[in-house]
Amino acid sequence: MIITVTLNTALDKTFTIPNFSLDRVHRPTEWKIVPGGKGINVSRVLRELGLQTLAMGFAGGYTGGMIRRGLEQEGLASHLVPTAEDSRECITVIDPEAGTQTEINENGPRISAGELSALDDALRARLPEAEALVLSGSIPPGVPPDIYARWISAAKQEGVFTVLDSSGPALAEGVRAKPDVVKPNRREFAELTGEDLLTADEIAARSLALVDTGIPCVLVSLGRAGAVAVTRNEQWVSRSPEIPFVSAVGSGDAFVAGFLFARHHGEDLEGSLRLATAAGSANAMTFGAGFCSRECILSLAAQVETRRLDLESKD
Ligand SMILES: Nc1ncnc2c1ncn2[C@@H]1O[C@H](COP(=O)(O)OP(=O)(O)OP(=O)(O)O)[C@@H](O)[C@H]1O
Ligand SMILES: [Mg+2]
Repeated sequence: MIITVTLNTALDKTFTIPNFSLDRVHRPTEWKIVPGGKGINVSRVLRELGLQTLAMGFAGGYTGGMIRRGLEQEGLASHLVPTAEDSRECITVIDPEAGTQTEINENGPRISAGELSALDDALRARLPEAEALVLSGSIPPGVPPDIYARWISAAKQEGVFTVLDSSGPALAEGVRAKPDVVKPNRREFAELTGEDLLTADEIAARSLALVDTGIPCVLVSLGRAGAVAVTRNEQWVSRSPEIPFVSAVGSGDAFVAGFLFARHHGEDLEGSLRLATAAGSANAMTFGAGFCSRECILSLAAQVETRRLDLESKD
């Protein structure tokens, strides 16, 4: 079973509004209201790929109730600790005419010490059954920035494979605990390393320096360009297939799920990067975060181009 953690779950509302503009009343032509947040998106894709998963985190108030009900309707297993304050709502407006995507994301509830300790207990109790632990997204107010580092250490003690996909201080603090995999996108990678590099090859070389600090595998997703996968022994660059683009919200989450699916089935680094890239791209051609089909992911995987680099570790 793969545990995902979402500290800031959301009720995600996505509206399609052709010719969206300010200062006007709009009626969406299409809409979707679903439980969201990065870990939940990862769980959704894992489940679609046939893996057992448990989505853990917080949910509170009216929106928290909607999130719980939505997860039940989807049949996604979850353990969400109740919070006194309401979970957040995130609104995305997709304008297919202009090709734009506008997001309004609430901040989310403040987490009390008691709520955090209830989740901490629940997570530690489930860790021994887990094959992997995925820590995704930002850390809400009230939760210390080293929480991911603590959970990574706890998971490592249980022999559980750890994936960190976060940003800002949560990412910077989390990498100190040396997760098995870290998955920043281009912007997060620049934040983490302090270097805004342009080409995939430059990013792969910088990733190897990160590997040398003790993180076994660095995956950097580069949006429509593809991604890089770097370990001490092997470095690969992938190119995403051309797709009919709809929305990339959750593509990084699908990418993580694709990678874990490949790993579960014993794929090597190239095969795992290929499946991860395909899952990200499958998500980008689908409305809503994490609703891509297994069939679409597997057929795109055959179209992903990969290239091996020959970098030398400085360690
Ligand atoms: N326009 C696109 N066309 C094809 N593939 C895409 C596109 N956008 C994203 N992808 C795929 O999805 C993967 C992850 O995308 P990206 O780097 O945008 O993740 P992210 O910024 O972490 O996303 P999020 O955090 O919103 O889930 C990419 O490596 C690529 O394979
Ligand atoms: Mg991301």
